[in-house]
Amino acid sequence: MAYNLLKGKRGIIFGALDANSIAWKTAERIHEEGGKFVLTNAPIALRMGTISELAEKTNSEIIPADATSMMDLENLVDKAVEILGGKIDFVLHSIGMSVNVRRGNPYTHQDYNFTKTGWDVSALSFHRTMSVLYNKDAVSEWGSIVGLTYMAAQRVFPDYNDMADNKAYLESVARSFGYYFGRDKKVRVNTISQSPTPTTAGSGVKGFDGFLAFAEKMSPLGNATALECADYVVTLFSDLTKKVTLQNLFHDGGFSNMGVSTAIMDDFMKNNAPEEAVAETVKKERKK
Ligand SMILES: NC(=O)c1ccc[n+]([C@@H]2O[C@H](COP(=O)([O-])OP(=O)(O)OC[C@H]3O[C@@H](n4cnc5c(N)ncnc54)[C@H](O)[C@@H]3O)[C@@H](O)[C@H]2O)c1
Repeated sequence: MAYNLLKGKRGIIFGALDANSIAWKTAERIHEEGGKFVLTNAPIALRMGTISELAEKTNSEIIPADATSMMDLENLVDKAVEILGGKIDFVLHSIGMSVNVRRGNPYTHQDYNFTKTGWDVSALSFHRTMSVLYNKDAVSEWGSIVGLTYMAAQRVFPDYNDMADNKAYLESVARSFGYYFGRDKKVRVNTISQSPTPTTAGSGVKGFDGFLAFAEKMSPLGNATALECADYVVTLFSDLTKKVTLQNLFHDGGFSNMGVSTAIMDDFMKNNAPEEAVAETVKKERKK
């Protein structure tokens, strides 16, 4: 269902690679809600992915930009303002990549050049993007900037590897830059902490299927899908959320506030040997 929530608004959408991408679904929803935008992605992703289909479908232009290059980002913002015919109202940063994850380096054995690249792509790029937008005064008053993140920024998920640290940095940048954007330009900046979602980036994480199934069973509402995330982004780009800023917003079916669910506990009791664990605890207590 469409509500015309973004009629007349102009934006930039980073990170649509293929039809599974959260940014892809968001672009489709924004289009349905009357918003217009330019699409952008790294030049290599433009060659590998299918973004031109999305551009055609949503009547939008593609401007290549490597999010680690200030030159590319400056060109992107200049062109977006020119193509869309005015300042930008919304920006979606939907970018993530860890070379350590890709190469299978465990968290304890990182290649730090890979770590730096992953941090530059996944986290610093959010600062770079906002800095270009801020310094060019390219965002309209009451505009909205959203970055996507994951709860490994707050809690331990071992296989999320160095992406956990990148997400913690990204969320901090949202707060820090959000302060200046709010104070000086009346622009809001937030991150959405999304459930595990089967996309190219998501599926790259070791043991992703387990992640997905565990979160599904733990969350009272089940995992949030990419399309549901797109809906949430639409609300944050709309005029209905003008005073929401500097927030990390969990969009995860309730996962982040759970301790344990009956579904997880039932599985644990069935498949593991809880008697052994209980006996171990009792033994430890007796030793005291
Ligand atoms: N999939 C999940 O489980 C999940 C959960 C929570 C948060 N997120 C976050 O959502 C965002 C989108 O990821 P997704 O799951 O849709 O996967 P995706 O693989 O479809 O999107 C990641 C995008 O990052 C782009 N990218 C990589 N390097 C780039 C660079 N140098 N410059 C510009 N773009 C670059 C890729 O081309 C791709 O389009 C990421 O920030 C991801 O961490 C994903």
